[in-house]
Parts: sequence; structure tokens; C-alpha cells
Amino acid sequence: MELNEQTITEKFKSTFKITEKPMIVRSPGRVNIIGEHTDYNDGFVLPAAIDKAAYVAITKRNDDQVHLFATDFNEWYQTSLGNIAKSNKHWPDYILGIVDQLQQTNATLQGFNLLVAADIPIGAGLSSSAALECATVFALNELFALHLSKAEMAHIAQRAEHTFAGVKCGVMDMFTSLFGKKDHVIHLDCRSLFYEYIPLKLTGYKLLLLNTNVKHQLSFTEYNTRRQQCEQAVAWINEKIPAVKALRDVTTDMLDKYVRAKDPLIYQRSKYVVEENNRLLQACTDLKKGDIKALGKKMFATHDGLSKAYEVSCRELDLLVDHVRNNKAVLGARMMGGGFGGCTINIVREEAIEKLLEELAPVYAAATGLEMSYYIASVEQGTTVLTQRAEAFA
Ligand code: GLA
Repeated sequence: MELNEQTITEKFKSTFKITEKPMIVRSPGRVNIIGEHTDYNDGFVLPAAIDKAAYVAITKRNDDQVHLFATDFNEWYQTSLGNIAKSNKHWPDYILGIVDQLQQTNATLQGFNLLVAADIPIGAGLSSSAALECATVFALNELFALHLSKAEMAHIAQRAEHTFAGVKCGVMDMFTSLFGKKDHVIHLDCRSLFYEYIPLKLTGYKLLLLNTNVKHQLSFTEYNTRRQQCEQAVAWINEKIPAVKALRDVTTDMLDKYVRAKDPLIYQRSKYVVEENNRLLQACTDLKKGDIKALGKKMFATHDGLSKAYEVSCRELDLLVDHVRNNKAVLGARMMGGGFGGCTINIVREEAIEKLLEELAPVYAAATGLEMSYYIASVEQGTTVLTQRAEAFA
């Protein structure tokens, strides 16, 4: 089903068998140009919201029931406000996690009917889960007039991911979904949440995402392990230099002095993060100067760090990046997101895209037995209300 105001409204009405017009909220997925695995280290990221999104359509109920329906799975989930707990299913947890967080802030809620639809691929590293969480918190905030700021919503969604999805993620995905701006990337400081929009001018070039179609299941445990390793490095340095609270505050010199001898693997992991933060700051300068070539080179360097030092890549991602490395039409390429599958992000000259896909798809299929899919991402606005509920106009 094509997702727009009309199709979602009709689907909502027929599913819930009510005539009331729902409020519809759209919240997008994201790409990240550079700055990977830096967000939970209080570092910097350079993401942008894209044209693929999660949608929720919602109406209030007059009881305390929570009735959820996911169009993609054709599946119901029902509970009540007094019984919010993990569902042991996948998709309801992203919504219930938000309700749980709101209840912890003592927000006054009522029952609601909520339908989810999405055109963002799941498990492709485009943050489908953050998109759903942000659509939900935004919709509930509007529906029950909770007066939350977007930054508060980002943190609520992040905590929901920690508690109900079990991933100790940073704030990048949620922040981007909520704050995205058309044709701009967000230079975000994940510690202070200060941010700056930088125009993404890729004249003649496009952001091409190549999907390995490897679902990044492993990433849940490995992701949390990486986070612990970073925290361990910080703890060792903090014993000597109390002002150091996160890898954001760390230099390679400190790592050499206080971490290297203690644990070579933790040293290797944290060194990548420290370098990546620096690389990102230089990449922002490149972007502002319009030097996409220099930015692209840094993306390759990021990939090498993620693959060899941080070890969150996989054979399929490496293959896709290695294949385009010497292609003059490709300025930069790297794995994107948590890792262990999902997509690579590539900056490719527009006219060269077709040829690249034609060449690469069979090579990828022969080497992996998997189909490579692709998508050209455009940079779009963050979370928006598509349709106000009917009573908002009364
Ligand atoms: C996932 C997480 C983000 C971020 C990236 C890696 O997408 O949800 O918070 O840590 O991985 O940069």
C-alpha cells in the first residue's frame, strides 16, 4: 500500500471499525554521513533524516485500553495502561516502551487506538525502530497535550530502546528523526545536544545506499559489548584524570598512557572512537568548504576503522565497500549504523549509479548468495504531523 494521508486514514478506519479521523504522524529513518559509534561516547555525529519513514495513526479511547495494529505484519496487540510490559513480540515493544517511559514521567494518558505503517526497511541500519518510537512519542505528546520538547522526546525514545528493546543505543537516531531538516545534515554534539544544520550540497552526486540484506541480529549483544569496552577505557582514565567522563574527553595520548598496557583490545576499540570524533570534526569543515572529495576519503577511513579496529563490520559490508574503493565515480563509502549487516552509504556520481549497480549486483550475489538491494536516499524533514485529529479543528 502506498503510504499517504488518505491510504493510512482509510486503513485505520477499516481496521478499527470507527469513523473518527485519526491524527497521523510521520517520523523518518536516517543516514549518517560520518561519526559512527561516537554518539554513546558523548561525541559528534553527522546524520540526516531521509524519505523513508514510520507512520502512526492514532485516536483517543474512552477507556484505558491500548489497541495496536501493525499493517506490515497484519497483526494486533492489545493491552491496557495498567499493564504496560514487554510484549515478547518485536514491533509492539517500541510503542509500549514509549508508553512505559511516559508513565514514569507521570504523564496523564488515556487509552488509544494506534495503527503503524512504514516504508522503511527493517534491519537495514536506517533506524526503523527509532522512527517508530519517535512517531509514537510525538503522536502521544500531541494527542494528550504533554508539552514535551523535541529533545525530551528524543531522550524518552532512547530510554525506551534501552529498556524495551535492550539496545544501549546513543541518541543519534532519535534526534535525527525528530530534528531532521530537508537537504541538511545535522552536526550534533551528543553530550550537550547542541546542533548545527549544514547544507548537504552534493552537486551531481547522490547518496546511494547498498543493502547487504544481512539482518544485523548479532549487533544487539555486540553493540552493548562495544559500549562497555568504551566505558571501561573511560573508567581507567578517570581514575587518573577525574575530568574525563567519556571518550569524547580522551586523547590518544591518554589511551597510550592509561589503557594500552591494561587491555590491548579495549585500547584498539577506544582509539577508533577518539580518531572518529576527530575525523568528523574535519569532515564538517570539508562539507562547509564543499570539498566532498576530502569528506569521501574520510568515509573510507571510517570504514577501515569500523571494520578492523572496532570490528563491527561483516564480510558482506566489506565486500561492498572494497568493490567501490577504486571507482572514480564513488567519492566515499562505508558501512553505516550499528554494523554486522544493513547498508553501506556511498557518495556516487549520479550518471554512474546505474553502471555501478549493474556491475556490483551479480558480483555480490555470486560471492554471498544474497541479493543486493539499493536505494537513493533524499534528505527530508524530521517528524511531522500529517493529519491533525478532527477535534483539533473544532
Ligand atoms: C545504532 C545506534 C546509534 C549509534 C549507531 C552507531 O544505529 O542506534 O545510537 O550508536 O548504531 O553509530
